[in-house]
Amino acid sequence: MKVEHFYDQETNTLTYVVWDTQTRDAVLIDPVLGYSPITGKIDINQFDAVCSLIAEKGLQLRWIFETHAHADHISASQLYKQRFPQAILGISEHIVAVQQVFKIVLSLDAAFDTSGSQFDVLIKDGECLSAGTLQIQALPTPGHTPACLSFHIGDHVFTGDALFMEDYGTGRCDFPGGNAAALYHSVHEVLYSLPDETHVWVGHDYQPNGREMLCQTTIGAQKKANIQLSEATTEDTFVAFRQGRDAGLSTPRLLYASIQVNIAGGHLPEPDDSGKRYLKMPFNADAWVSVAG
Ligand SMILES: [Fe+2]
Repeated sequence: MKVEHFYDQETNTLTYVVWDTQTRDAVLIDPVLGYSPITGKIDINQFDAVCSLIAEKGLQLRWIFETHAHADHISASQLYKQRFPQAILGISEHIVAVQQVFKIVLSLDAAFDTSGSQFDVLIKDGECLSAGTLQIQALPTPGHTPACLSFHIGDHVFTGDALFMEDYGTGRCDFPGGNAAALYHSVHEVLYSLPDETHVWVGHDYQPNGREMLCQTTIGAQKKANIQLSEATTEDTFVAFRQGRDAGLSTPRLLYASIQVNIAGGHLPEPDDSGKRYLKMPFNADAWVSVAG
């Protein structure tokens, strides 16, 4: 089995291609679509790079997995679905809870479906999946969002935003449905119960203190040294820390654009009568109202 990573510098996101070197069966995890909120333009640089790898290695793309509905980048999943129609797009079955919340937050059209139908497969907690010869187990790791999965393939686990590198810690838990205590249990009881030698591939790397980008570690190293949540950290300590840290974090730059596309399975907004596509943004006029009375 081989893993190749792709790092999106703009959003510090890691995308992975995992494949069986014998059969060439492959899966793709958390693909990124470049997007500028200033110009409204997308770019497909990462898509092109991943497609080059797939072609060069002769891979058969079987699945596209989302570890969760990302709030910091737009998923490129539907671009891959166009290029590789046989690939199955999967996300946690709990995505429906995220869809329901953000349908209200974004005041989406009444017709917006919150049954998860925009994805090909809604994956159950603990479900075992096959991608040709690759065997994958979907481990429930909620906390960052209620619909976070980690994907365990061979002696590798792809943790999305549950765990980052040891010197950065864990994902924030303050989005709607996020829960620091849930993340504590996901890490301690699900991820830290994997063998110490299991390779951990993280969903983001923010390069703390200017260090080089790193995306791979092990469960043993995380248990010993994760700066926010090691094996020795108590639940109370972690929850107090995480809630305190989250209170000071700013809203992700691409939150509304990302969430609105990603809870729709990566489908772009439908064009209007003029053929143009638009995203919705909340406009908070509380300060105006306080002046105007
Ligand atoms: Fe995330």
